[in-house]
Amino acid sequence: MTLRLERVSHAYDGRPVLRDVDLELSEHRIGLIGANGSGKSTLARTLNGLVLPDSGRVLVDGLDTRRHAREIRRRVGFVFSDASAQIVMPTVAEDVAIGLRRSGLGAAEQRARVEAVLERHGLAGHRDHPAHLLSGGQRQMLALASVLVTEPEVLVCDEPTTLLDLRNTAVVAQALRELPQQVVLATHHLDTVSGFDRVLVMDDGRVVFDGAPADAVAHYTALMGVDAGAARPDGGAGSGPRRSGGGYRP
Ligand SMILES: Nc1ncnc2c1ncn2[C@@H]1O[C@H](COP(=O)(O)OP(=O)(O)OP(=O)(O)O)[C@@H](O)[C@H]1O
Ligand SMILES: [Mg+2]
Repeated sequence: MTLRLERVSHAYDGRPVLRDVDLELSEHRIGLIGANGSGKSTLARTLNGLVLPDSGRVLVDGLDTRRHAREIRRRVGFVFSDASAQIVMPTVAEDVAIGLRRSGLGAAEQRARVEAVLERHGLAGHRDHPAHLLSGGQRQMLALASVLVTEPEVLVCDEPTTLLDLRNTAVVAQALRELPQQVVLATHHLDTVSGFDRVLVMDDGRVVFDGAPADAVAHYTALMGVDAGAARPDGGAGSGPRRSGGGYRP
């Protein structure tokens, strides 16, 4: 599926947050990195019409998010960083099932889909447990499962691992890597975009780099004026930091 942004600009209270962004996104795994406030979440939200841009347009396989919101929400799923905010039903299985209530599928088919998704995401043993008692990582898997059960073609994830410890971050990152769906992932966990097909770096409402993961991370860390080794404890590419010249910038 192709997500296309055409000269997309957006401002909050007169303050520009997206500036004339032109993008065509069709790769299987796309990462979105950049400083706090650089516009990642806003851009991510334009992809399924949660944010409608002030000017320009966003096309999902040719459908304009301004005019085809319902169809686009069906095809583009969205996962937030705070899974708790996304959990609406008392038990795990009910929370997954609620996404199918308007699917037109029969009860047996719905149950089968719910069970399959719970199984795939390691939640089958928790099907009747209160969702709010799950651990942070399990809650994030539940949020993911509740979106995936509707079988979207694209999954947009806005910092799905931000509240997780290292182990659960790795678990969620691996789950995202294994999905057949196209994934757009906004994150500050730079390791989670390694192996991605394409990573965009945002700065002040613009895409300032667009390329391979290691190059994008190097660009971002140089932009921030921090040591790449400090940002990536595993050492990453090992090519070292490339300072942008000014040393540390707050
Ligand atoms: N609903 C809103 N109302 C007003 N301003 C907003 C709103 N949402 C975002 N902003 C502002 O828009 C700018 C970009 O925010 P955005 O959330 O897109 O950045 P981000 O790159 O996702 O940052 P972070 O890494 O902190 O999540 C920020 O300056 C933010 O304060
Ligand atoms: Mg954000």
